[in-house]
Amino acid sequence: MTRRMVFIMGQQKKISRNLFLRMLTGLIIGLIAWIGYKLSNYQLERENNLEFRHGQDIPMGISYFEKYYLYRTDHSVRAFLTKCTHAGCQIGIGSGTMLQCNCHGSQFEAQTGKPLKGPALKPLQEIECRLDNSKGQYVVRLHPINPERVKYE
Ligand code: FES
Repeated sequence: MTRRMVFIMGQQKKISRNLFLRMLTGLIIGLIAWIGYKLSNYQLERENNLEFRHGQDIPMGISYFEKYYLYRTDHSVRAFLTKCTHAGCQIGIGSGTMLQCNCHGSQFEAQTGKPLKGPALKPLQEIECRLDNSKGQYVVRLHPINPERVKYE
């Protein structure tokens, strides 16, 4: 049996070729997992910094986009992610001002993101939506805003 010399905790030790290959495989798998994790974080961070611009002619009520929706009233425009807070499925437009998740049936009030029917217990995540006065456009970023700012009306 071929033996390899390795340094473990500062001591030189002989290990079998089999053990050496298993350690090397574990190291490579760990490295690939770490790279995947870093890339997914990078992708998420990049996505959070994307800006979506909308003119001031946003219609009243729900304007649905793939990753988020806008809700316009006479006084405000708010944006929420379309990711269900139960298990992460994408929610769709229900009836009227209600949004529905087709995975397990949760329903949310569109204006506030508040859950109306479970299994979801948490409200939809509100994201940044501000008026850029210099360009007269609403700017939406997929960046979550502080949940304490979410008020139920
Ligand atoms: S993922 Fe939406 S209800 Fe379960």
